[in-house]
Amino acid sequence: MAISETAQIGIIGGGPAGLLLGELLRKAGVDSVVLERRDRAYVEGRIRAGVLENGTVSMLEEAGVGDRLHREGLVHSGTEIALGTRRQRIDFEGLVGKTVTVYGQTEVTKDLIEARLRSGAPLVWSVEGVTIENEEGEKPLLHYVVDGAPHQLRCDFIAGCDGFHGVSRQSLPAEILKTYERVYPFGWLGILADVPPCAHELVYANHERGFALASMRSETRSRYYIQCALDEKLENWPDERVWDELKLRLGPELAASIVTGPAIEKSIAPLRSFVATPMRYRNLFLAGDAAHIVPPTGAKGLNLAVSDIHYLSRALSAFYRDGSRALLDSYSDTALARVWKAERFSWWMTSMLHKFHDEDSFEARMQAAELQYLFSSRAAQTALAENYVGLPY
Ligand code: APR
Ligand code: PHB
Repeated sequence: MAISETAQIGIIGGGPAGLLLGELLRKAGVDSVVLERRDRAYVEGRIRAGVLENGTVSMLEEAGVGDRLHREGLVHSGTEIALGTRRQRIDFEGLVGKTVTVYGQTEVTKDLIEARLRSGAPLVWSVEGVTIENEEGEKPLLHYVVDGAPHQLRCDFIAGCDGFHGVSRQSLPAEILKTYERVYPFGWLGILADVPPCAHELVYANHERGFALASMRSETRSRYYIQCALDEKLENWPDERVWDELKLRLGPELAASIVTGPAIEKSIAPLRSFVATPMRYRNLFLAGDAAHIVPPTGAKGLNLAVSDIHYLSRALSAFYRDGSRALLDSYSDTALARVWKAERFSWWMTSMLHKFHDEDSFEARMQAAELQYLFSSRAAQTALAENYVGLPY
């Protein structure tokens, strides 16, 4: 016999989307159970991006996890775009009056886990075999296994926050689910090291050898990336080779400021744009990577998950406050409108900054013209800044 439980909301996935939703709902008096496939150490050890939009910071404050973020996060009022030896600062504050905060997603996740555990609200680790029953007109039911024991969770709604490889999106009938995808013909090789960053702000570089990004986690921890072939093997990239390549691609001035050190983490990730529609089916709502993926150029992944949760938390709170279904019914359209704009921005940044084509092709000339325009036009810089700091919810 399965152990039976109930909750208002069943949340599949304890990444930033699921955990943030859980906290916001708890503050609104709505109870939830979070089911996470991995254990705590694994979830807290995952290295992900680290640039928070304004709106993301506000949402984390609302969830009660703003303190460490404000203490340790670095406020950046601009970023740099480099082309060969030329560098152009994009002044977010001057152009659109907003900033971003550099604070690792790993830290966001730790803060959310700590808040949830402190509250005593259920967060179940190492959950196996989640399946979803989501029949028309019935309360959904989640089946899962913990420590070999079968469980059932009956809830009013399910939030599918289980990332790209989760079960939620796959539970939509094939005739309902529509997906849109672009897979890019290269990956990013990332290196994390306890060395001071080479610049005060992030630098996105388009170089003839390929894209490079200088980023950071703190004043003493740097994160760098280089564009690489999809079939590149990490064993061919000892730390020294990564540092040498970064120095070439970021140009002599930045190279002189790069402090090298042993990698704490080194990995290769493919780049993909992906959108699944609709983001709601009956009583199941998709949020975050379960519904969409962006290439990391522009750091929109976490921010987009947070904007979904903004809409979803408000829709669920309104339902429990006054029985209104209007925001639940418009959730998919509302969330997707913002998702597509972030997809466009991430695709555009990726297209502008990576080496795709033969130097002498039409496409390469278009890319060069795009960068020349960006460097010379305040309007173009404003558009970049407006998107980078985050479009309004
Ligand atoms: N059952 C339970 N949990 C699952 C299942 C499953 N079948 N499948 C996946 N999960 C868990 C994963 O282990 C992970 O912890 O769901 C969580 C999903 O978290 P993320 O992949 O981090 O996705 P999300 O919360 O949407 O966060 C948005 O933004 O920067 C990007 O990709 C980056 O993680 C980031 C994301
Ligand atoms: C990162 O610091 O990991 C990072 C920053 C900006 C990006 C992508 C990744 O666009």
